Amino acid sequence: MIKIAIDGPGGAGKSTIAKAVAKKLGIVYVDTGALYRTVGYFVKGKGIDPHDRVAVPACLGEISIEVKYENGTQNVYLNGENPGDKIRTPEMSMYASAVSAIPEVRAFLLDTQRDIAKKNSVIMDGRDIGTVILPDAEVKIFMTASAECRAERRYKELLAKGVKANYDDVLREMNERDHNDSTRDVAPTAAAADAVLLDNSNLNFDESVDAVIAIVNEKTRVQK
Ligand code: DC
Repeated sequence: MIKIAIDGPGGAGKSTIAKAVAKKLGIVYVDTGALYRTVGYFVKGKGIDPHDRVAVPACLGEISIEVKYENGTQNVYLNGENPGDKIRTPEMSMYASAVSAIPEVRAFLLDTQRDIAKKNSVIMDGRDIGTVILPDAEVKIFMTASAECRAERRYKELLAKGVKANYDDVLREMNERDHNDSTRDVAPTAAAADAVLLDNSNLNFDESVDAVIAIVNEKTRVQK
């Protein structure tokens, strides 16, 4: 069993790169952002302000979250239903970021994440995987890229999905979200002391995947 933690700001390519690495290594890819997005989606459906530190914790008892791996894809079920791409909008990114700053929400999702890593070899991406969720992960990578690079990638991703987008709005929202995520009191986005920093501003997708595999090989070789 191996645990690989990938943390970093939004748009660094963590999820697409980690997914490809998971496939190559034959391990499970865990997208933890999807869990915060799902809580955000529920909160929005209830008409609750995602920053409300009383109302958000109070509604957690109404939420049941189940993570299933179906045909190699992670699906997060919210009270028995899969919201699919509804959690992927820019609005849900902001909702997820807001609810993720609330300690009760983080505590609510903690065991779900750790349980998956107990049962499977995983590559798990998020903001606090190497620092809080899997502090004993064999490999920890902090993946980043310049803000402009990350915004450009996110912008192209949205256009490819047919979502109307404006580059300046994407860059502004990304900076706002990174600021929220890295300055919050609990489990802010941070590189673990033993993480390898990977800035992929100048790497294409395949090069980024190879760079991750090289780090995994190096780390696991050292530990053998
Ligand atoms: O990775 P993502 O963009 O789907 O994550 C959405 C939000 O969820 C992100 O802005 C912060 C939060 N998040 C978190 O706080 N901790 C994680 N491990 C993953 C995501």
